Amino acid sequence: MATQTRRIIAFITPLVIAVAAIAAPLPPPVAPYDSNPDHVWNRLHRAIFARTAGDGTQVGHDALDPLLYGESKFLRSGDSHKVLLDTLDEFLASAPERQINDPLKSAILQRDLWAVFDWAQRGNPYKSDRDPGNRALMAPLAKAIRRLALSAEQRAGLPDALAQAVASQQFPSSYDPEKPHQPFLPDDLLSPTGPWVALAEGDTFAAKTHVVDFRGRTAFDVFLNLPGGRKATINYLAALREAKNPLVNIPPTATDNRTLVRLSPDLPEPPKGTRFAILRRTLLIDGDGTIRSTPVVESLQIRVFRDRPRAATRGGPNVIPDPGEQDRFEFVRSRAKLFASDAGGLRAIIAGEQEMPSPLFRAHLFDPLEFPERDGQPPSAPPTHDVLNQCVACHPGGPLQTFQSLNRFPAYPGATLPRLAAIESNIFETDAAAVVAWKTQQEDWKALAELMKK
Ligand code: HEC
Repeated sequence: MATQTRRIIAFITPLVIAVAAIAAPLPPPVAPYDSNPDHVWNRLHRAIFARTAGDGTQVGHDALDPLLYGESKFLRSGDSHKVLLDTLDEFLASAPERQINDPLKSAILQRDLWAVFDWAQRGNPYKSDRDPGNRALMAPLAKAIRRLALSAEQRAGLPDALAQAVASQQFPSSYDPEKPHQPFLPDDLLSPTGPWVALAEGDTFAAKTHVVDFRGRTAFDVFLNLPGGRKATINYLAALREAKNPLVNIPPTATDNRTLVRLSPDLPEPPKGTRFAILRRTLLIDGDGTIRSTPVVESLQIRVFRDRPRAATRGGPNVIPDPGEQDRFEFVRSRAKLFASDAGGLRAIIAGEQEMPSPLFRAHLFDPLEFPERDGQPPSAPPTHDVLNQCVACHPGGPLQTFQSLNRFPAYPGATLPRLAAIESNIFETDAAAVVAWKTQQEDWKALAELMKK
């Protein structure tokens, strides 16, 4: 009898496990555009964004930028390539009732497809030949981008994301040094008379690195805020511009025979308490192929220099040492929040939050989800890092040294200090116009503009 029971148990156990595995709830498919997960817009979104790590974890589905790196095979070949082409075909052919009549959703899908287009057009920028997989994607992407263009009236109706986020009162509007992990969203960032001064470099944008790395598809507005108020900030910028010999030579060393230049130690340092912000905004392409500014926000990053530093923390594997001088904050757009008219779509990054390395900003060409880690296999878990810890990697040191829009040094002799000045006109239009002027000179834009006409 006992043996019989054991046999039965031995027989049914694998069945129970198998049934349990089938019954284990799968994560619901990501469906930002329509309640029907199979709607072609949702499938198009997933075709671009849903990436899977070796352990089956899905990443990237609500990322700002699709996880596409210069050398990604994803979308360029294999199943993901075919799925994207088929879904684009279906999208372009689909009957009007399968469309979604919401300008905000069209705007977001357009800017996402634009990112894929630029990636496909550029491929690996160090190789002269476009991969055939990349080339096959370009024409249908261009058609879909044109299909999603908003009219001027629709564009005018897009939400002012920052104003909505402030009005939602979901985030405190002032910084509390006692709560360094509590995100704050200034309610006066865009006030023309407030303490945050928007910056331009001559007649162009201040955020050189961002605009170029993000291929001019979004505007980046840089703000400086000294504790003495707007006047103090403007005076400080004038002092920087008027400084005699703002750069000094670093003579060659035994290991480096180049002469480089860096900021002079005599340059005035912004005081403790100084705050920096950078606002990323969506640009869109009109039906006639003109790039337009919008108030739709993609992210806002803020750095605050503390009056009294916090305890420093040591670095470790994948952790950057933090001298405790700056508090860091970031808000990013969530599609679900945006489409629900919730806080302009903005959500705060929480302390310790992880993300994949940016596919665009200062990015490696290799795809971290495909790059062989061990035994030729891609990494099992997604190789993520701590978002707010990462800021100090690029912004180390005192207030002046961390001010990256100014401190682009070391560079070679002959380099000049960026002449940063306050933007006194409409920040959104001035900054965007400078980005558009840059973008329209680029090969990726020329290729898209040409294909959109067809
Ligand atoms: C990969 C390097 C890198 C990382 C990581 C990075 N930044 Fe920056 N950041 C820059 C550069 C470079 C600039 C200068 C603008 C430009 O040239 O585009 C900048 C500009 C800024 C500015 C505008 C003021 C200034 O310094 O010019 C703020 C504010 C800022 N970053 C905050 C952050 C925060 C907060 C984080 C972390 C969530 C972060 N940054 C992560 C490189 C980085």
